Amino acid sequence: MESFSGEKVTLRPPREEDCELLASLRNDLRTQGWNQRLPPTRTPEIIKEKLKELGKKPNTALLMIDTKEDGAVGYVDYSERPPRLGATIGISIGTEHWGKGYALEAIELLLEFLFEERGLQVVSGWTLSGNKRAVGAAKKLGFERSARVREGAMIGGRVHDTVLMDMIREEYFESRGKENGMKGGGR
Ligand SMILES: CC(C)(COP(=O)(O)OP(=O)(O)OC[C@H]1O[C@@H](n2cnc3c(N)ncnc32)[C@H](O)[C@@H]1OP(=O)(O)O)[C@@H](O)C(=O)NCCC(=O)NCCS
Repeated sequence: MESFSGEKVTLRPPREEDCELLASLRNDLRTQGWNQRLPPTRTPEIIKEKLKELGKKPNTALLMIDTKEDGAVGYVDYSERPPRLGATIGISIGTEHWGKGYALEAIELLLEFLFEERGLQVVSGWTLSGNKRAVGAAKKLGFERSARVREGAMIGGRVHDTVLMDMIREEYFESRGKENGMKGGGR
């Protein structure tokens, strides 16, 4: 898969040396603890095998968030869901690089690819109500909360709602002042 570059961030396919960072993100409760189904048991070797499997799946990718100042800081991923012409995305960035604007730019690049190149109708992401950074970043990018599973998860002994944030194709083009080449999107 190709790479996409913004001002601070380049999204690029993972390399073998990224497995260390990917494993550390998966083993840190602050960067994966929002997903309770993932025990902190990943090693760089396991990640390497997972990346090989992922590489065989169509319309799915994991891309490293590479930065000019800090090198690789995290990843974004997406997986398309054909029935709604949509994709679900995810993101994780190492805690020492939070608050530098990397997530906003990385997701913007991913949205550009998914709406403008893949022609999708909707892009969604799951998070938890207590994840203020993720919900705040999603809102700033123009995502709306479209579903809430009340008390869907328990983190650190506290109950949180699981929320689905999404953005519709028309909203993306309108908010970015861009021409939507596929108005109506078949709906
Ligand atoms: C969520 C995450 C990707 C954000 O990364 P980041 O690089 O810190 O985000 P950015 O600096 O690009 O953008 C942060 C934006 O989020 C919002 N934000 C940040 N902290 C916030 C808070 N405490 N309350 C409300 N909004 C907040 C702001 O809009 C901010 O933009 P601004 O600083 O220009 O106002 C990162 O915290 C992370 O990897 N978390 C763990 C994994 C995760 O939760 N993934 C997402 C859902 S599962």
